[in-house]
Amino acid sequence: MAIQRTFSIIKPDATKRNLTGAVNAVIEKAGLRIVAQKRILMTRAQAETFYAVHAARPFFGELCDFMTSGPVVVQVLEGENAIATYRDVMGATNPANAAEGTIRKLFALSVGENTAHGSDAPETAALEIAQFFAGNEIVG
Ligand code: CMP
Repeated sequence: MAIQRTFSIIKPDATKRNLTGAVNAVIEKAGLRIVAQKRILMTRAQAETFYAVHAARPFFGELCDFMTSGPVVVQVLEGENAIATYRDVMGATNPANAAEGTIRKLFALSVGENTAHGSDAPETAALEIAQFFAGNEIVG
C-alpha cells in the first residue's frame, strides 16, 4: 500500500478538555505523521459545507452547532494506508461500540461529541483537505 493522506478533525469536546496532545499521541503511536495542523474556530458555513452529505439527517443542525461551539484542530495525517489506519485508530462512531485503545473509546463522550473525524475514502480525503489547507501548508 502506498503512502496516503487523510483529513482529521479533533473536535470541540476534546479541545475543551485540553486533549489535543493526548489524541495526537495516539495518532503518532499508530505510525501516522501529522503533516499539517491548525487550531481554528469553524464557521457555520464551513461546518455546513463540510457535513453537506449529512444535510438531510435529523442530527445535522445539532452537528453543525457542536462543530462551531469551540475550537477544533484540523489536520492532515500521512502514512501507509492512512485512511483505513486512522479509521481503525479512531474506533466506531459511537464510543459505546468503539474498541479498547481507540481514540473514541479513550476520550469520546457520545455519538455526537465523539472527539475525532477522519475521512472515509480517498476522494473525500482530497476534498476535505482542500477545504481547510493550501498545498504549501502541508509539509510531509
Ligand atoms: P463524523 O465522523 O465527524 O461524521 C459525521 C458525524 O455525525 C459523526 O462523526 C458523528 O459525530 C455525528 N453523528 C452521527 N450520528 C449522530 C447522531 N445520531 N446524533 C448526533 N450526531 C451524530
